[in-house]
Amino acid sequence: MNHLLTMDQLSNRMIYSLLENAGRMKRGEQKTWKGRFAANLFLEPSTRTRQSFHVAERRMQMEVLEMEAEQSSLLKGESLYDSVRTLEAIGTDILVIRQSERDSLQELSECKGISIINAGDGTGEHPTQSLLDLFTIYEEFGCFKGLTVTIAGDIKHSRVARSNAYALKQLGAEVQFSSPDEWKEPGKTYVTMDEAVASSDVLMLLRIQKERHDWEGDIPDYLTDYGLTKERERRMKSHSIILHPAPVNRGVEIDSALVECQKSRIFTQMNNGVYMRMAIIDELMGGKHNENNKCVPMERELFATM
Ligand code: NCD
Repeated sequence: MNHLLTMDQLSNRMIYSLLENAGRMKRGEQKTWKGRFAANLFLEPSTRTRQSFHVAERRMQMEVLEMEAEQSSLLKGESLYDSVRTLEAIGTDILVIRQSERDSLQELSECKGISIINAGDGTGEHPTQSLLDLFTIYEEFGCFKGLTVTIAGDIKHSRVARSNAYALKQLGAEVQFSSPDEWKEPGKTYVTMDEAVASSDVLMLLRIQKERHDWEGDIPDYLTDYGLTKERERRMKSHSIILHPAPVNRGVEIDSALVECQKSRIFTQMNNGVYMRMAIIDELMGGKHNENNKCVPMERELFATM
């Protein structure tokens, strides 16, 4: 794997390999890419994704270039492609990038010397969020086949929904959706929130993506009509879990009291995000070694002999 741009580029075998690798990282296995360079370029706001990539990179002892759009040559009219070629030319190994245009990272995949990680491309995809969600589900249930997963909320504008719907189906889960009519995408199976709580093993809630709407209005009574209320939570299956990529709008898609309830894995997802991002970087760095014959960190050689 040279880049991670979309979930459909990953075979089930590769997904399971990343899940296992993230699990080993979480259990304390040390991998180091000491002295290698990662750059983080976020052209849309981010708290979790950006900071967990930073933590993942530093835990693997990488040198981290935090790029600020306002202080980069993008503001002087340089194209994204030329900025990425520049990072590649100065020896950056990994570029984590978030930006607002869907599907616009494909042209960057021509850059072979630097591995691009899509950290969200508008309404397109968010593969690292999907992988950390898969990790959280796998940790809980140990499988995907036989699980019913409901993705609920602003389906139309959510890159998290898109990446997860694809990956979960590919892994054999039953995926259904719940959404107000305004944000439904055609060709999907929709249930009401009442049906969702009764049937789901995993209930994945989404934030309303207001910044991607072309109207300013609110849906009145959203929590009561479409969200997870305390009363609905009581009707969930006893073993079921609640996921949310966050940021959470408490009292909108979920009752504030449920954000940290016993079924919620929202903060576990954030914790798992660091390990999954370490696994992704490790996979990409390993691939670079094979292709370019760059030096291998000593620890990696040690692991190979274990
Ligand atoms: C999501 C995103 O940016 O797409 N958040 C995240 O990365 N953790 C979801 C969202 O913004 O609602």
